[in-house]
Order: sequence, then structure tokens, then C-alpha cells
Amino acid sequence: MLLFILLGTALSVTGAVCDEIVVEVGSLAVLPCTVGSPPQAAISVQWVKTNGRSQNTVWRIQQSGLEFRGIEAVRRSWCPHNDIRKGSFNLHIESVRPEDGGEYICIAMRGKEVQRHVLRVIQVSFTPAVPLEGSSAKVTCNVTPWPEEAIVSWKLNGRPLSPQQTQSTMNKMEQKITSMSPREMGNWTCAVRLEKKDGEATQYLSMKGISRPLEEITQVYGAVGSPIVLPCVYTEELTPQNTGWQWKPNGARSFQPVPPTLRPSAPSPRPQWDRSLRVESVAAGDGGTYRCFGEVGGRRLQRQLLLVTAQVRSAAPVKPNAPMTLTCELSDDTGVTGYEWVQVTYDSNGTQSVTPKQRTKTLRIPKMTEEHSGEWVCRYSGKQGILGNVTYHFQVMSHLEGDKLEGSSSRGVMATGLCFLVLLLLLIALQAYRNHRRRKMALQYPALETIVHTASNARERKERDRARDKSAGPSNTN
Ligand SMILES: *[C@@H]1O[C@H](CO)[C@@H](O)[C@H](O)[C@H]1NC(C)=O
Ligand SMILES: *[C@@H]1O[C@H](CO)[C@@H](O)[C@H](O)[C@H]1NC(C)=O
Repeated sequence: MLLFILLGTALSVTGAVCDEIVVEVGSLAVLPCTVGSPPQAAISVQWVKTNGRSQNTVWRIQQSGLEFRGIEAVRRSWCPHNDIRKGSFNLHIESVRPEDGGEYICIAMRGKEVQRHVLRVIQVSFTPAVPLEGSSAKVTCNVTPWPEEAIVSWKLNGRPLSPQQTQSTMNKMEQKITSMSPREMGNWTCAVRLEKKDGEATQYLSMKGISRPLEEITQVYGAVGSPIVLPCVYTEELTPQNTGWQWKPNGARSFQPVPPTLRPSAPSPRPQWDRSLRVESVAAGDGGTYRCFGEVGGRRLQRQLLLVTAQVRSAAPVKPNAPMTLTCELSDDTGVTGYEWVQVTYDSNGTQSVTPKQRTKTLRIPKMTEEHSGEWVCRYSGKQGILGNVTYHFQVMSHLEGDKLEGSSSRGVMATGLCFLVLLLLLIALQAYRNHRRRKMALQYPALETIVHTASNARERKERDRARDKSAGPSNTN
């Protein structure tokens, strides 16, 4: 009872401190209340929220140290004990809700000290919460309680709103989106300037529709001979109707159905909302504009994908020891700012290592040798980084380099020696076979045996000599 009498006198005190505190919904609000020096633990302090004529106690501490919490905001409001020891009875309100907004009074019994605050809570909300692509939507900024004077400004993803994007109401508290598109997705910030304080609140607006790709027109790069996925993914749980793909080859005037080879084969276990087009192997002529379309809630949605094909062309057939020129060719290189050629090699463990070689569109190697064999990859990049790559394989085998090798490689010599050895073994085998047959014949014509043997021995010697001459040739030059 005494408390309320005191409270009455306290409230009638004119010139009491009145402060404005502006916070975003969901955040932590701190309403300061400092009791004049010297701070004492044994003091009775009460926090009251006024609501027109009625007053509700939010928090109270008695001289004995007993603490009470109001019913309304039971768990979300308190005064930290650390602050109390220092003589501060700052009211903390956690996860502020719009209904927490209003006038708060801190009453310290000793000396009838009173501090008043108006807590204003800013909230950004969307109607509907998640609009459908192409439909209209509304963004609202609420301040509870509503101030007499306020200047409101809006930002979308940190940038001021463009006038074409929305229509705003007189006091700008509402913004109307006439047709929801990915451009309106993102963080909406409402900044409120009050007489004494500023505050702002931000909320993320998402959208139902085609979630990937988001841009109306997207460039996609595909290496000729490699698979590629042209994405067209709706927001999860959506069931688009009348979906399909069309394409317009480079240079053509109108869209046409995509060739059957490009259509998704066999029923695949992908969800309803994934309408991506999977191309098993990109062909050089597949470049062009692809259009994915479908209907959601009676609205037609679509995206366009520009498929740029990439391939490696060599000026002439790749030959050992000859110069080699490879060119990285894109069907449309408008978005490409740079090329890089890298060589990819694998060690015995199969670990890949990539060695950058040239930062040019055309790769020139003066002389093809074995060390150049393997995988060459042309990477092309745009402003955002690497856009894609295309691979070229070739194999240079040293034993095929033959006589032109000019002894430059010791491995080449080894290979030549090996060839000679095989030849020799073949000759010996042949001779053994001949001897075997001759012996068979000699059984039939014993008298002939000596003559045949002598003749064949002479031939054999000749052949051996010839083979030795042959082998002496290359080894001399080395
Ligand atoms: C291959 O793998 C083994 C075991 O993982 C490792 O000890 C060895 O160093 C690797 N060799 C190379 C060439 O990376
Ligand atoms: C080429 O692109 C593929 C797919 O993006 C990537 O996995 C691979 O690492 C790239 N290769 C090189 C050498 O950059």
C-alpha cells in the first residue's frame, strides 16, 4: 500500500528524466536506472510499465533483498545482480516483442527518485510471409508505440530502394511490391528517425518460385564431350505444372523444343521441384539459349540459360617432336576475361598435380616430347573467377619416336635395344623350328641331311651378320 502511495507522489514529480529507447524486435533492451550516490544494497526499487491508466510491476526488489518478477514478462525481464551492487537497476528485457513497447518507470524508494523511459520496438514484416514469384506483396515497418513524429527510410540489401521497385504509402511505413522477383529478395531494413533517437530493424524476405538459377538470364559453360546440368530448381515442396524446356540455337530466331537427345532420359528419382536438364555429353552445336518454364499457382515462371560450349582445337595433328598449337575455343567469349593452360599429371598413388603453364588462349609448345604427354586443361575465367575448363588428352610414346630421336633421350636408346633383342629372339625361334622340320625330313631322306645342314648353317651365319650390322648402326651414333 505504502508503495503505491509513494508511487503516486513519484509520478507527479515534474521534470523526471524521460528517455527514448529504440530497439529491434527480438533483440535485448536495456532500460537504465541509476540510484544516486552513495549506492546502497539496502534499497527498494521497482520497475513499472504504464499502460494508459493501469500500471504493472515488471520487477521489484525489497530492502531485504527479496526480488519479485511481474507476470507478463516473467522470464524475459530482470536486473543483473552485478549492476545492482554498483547501484544500477538497469532493466534488461530479452527477445523484445512489439507488445513490450511502452512507458517504463523506475522508482527508487529512497529519495523518491524516478526515471522514465519510452521503449519503442521496431519490426519489419511481410505479407504474405513468403510471396510467390510474380505476385504482389507488402512490406511493413511497425514501431510500437507509434511515435508522433518519425522519418522512415528503407534499404534493401544495404542499398536505398529504387523507386521502380515499390510503391510506398504516405508515411512510408508500407512498401508495396507489385511483382515479386529475385531482385526483391533479401534483407529489408527500415530505419526510423525519431525526435531524439534513431533505430532500425531488418528482416529477410524470401520467395517461392524458381530458386536456381535466380537471375532471369544465366550463362552456363559446358566442355564439348562432357556432361552438364542446366539447372532449373523450384522452391522445395512446390509442384510446378506444365513444365518444359525450349531452346534457340545460336543464330536462330525463335525457340523450339529441345532435341530428344537432350531431354532427361528415363524417369529419374529426382523431386517434383527439380526440373533441371541433364545433358550426357555436350556437342559443339548445343550452344544457344535454353528456356525452362512452368506454372505455379496459375503464374508462368521461366528462366533462360545461355549455354556456351568450350572445346580445344589443335592447328595440326599432334606429332612427336613437332611444334604443337592448341586453342581454347568458346562459342561465346563475351564474359571471359582470361585463359590459362595447365598440365595435369598423376603420381604413382594417383594423386593429381596441376602445373600452370601459360596464360594465353592459345598454347604453343615448340617441340612435343614425352614430358608433354598427358592431360592439358584450358581454364577460362571471368570477373567472378574461374568459369570452367576443358581438357585435351594426348599420349607421346618414346618408342614411336623412332630414328628421328637423334639420341636425345636415353630411354629412346633403351627402346631401340629392346626391339633388336626381340628381333633376335624371333630369329632364334625361327631357326629352331627350321632345324626341327629339317630333322623330320632327314629321317625320310638321310643322305640329304648333311647337305641341307651345311646350307642352312651358311644362311644362318649370313643372317646373324646382317642383324649385327643393323644393331651396330644406332649404337655407334650414340
Ligand atoms: C603414396 O602413398 C603412401 C602412403 O599413403 C605415401 O607414403 C607415399 O609417400 C605416397 N607417394 C607419393 C609419390 O605421393
Ligand atoms: C575442371 O573443372 C572441374 C569441374 O568444375 C573440376 O572438378 C576440376 O578440378 C577442374 N580442373 C582443373 C584442372 O581446374
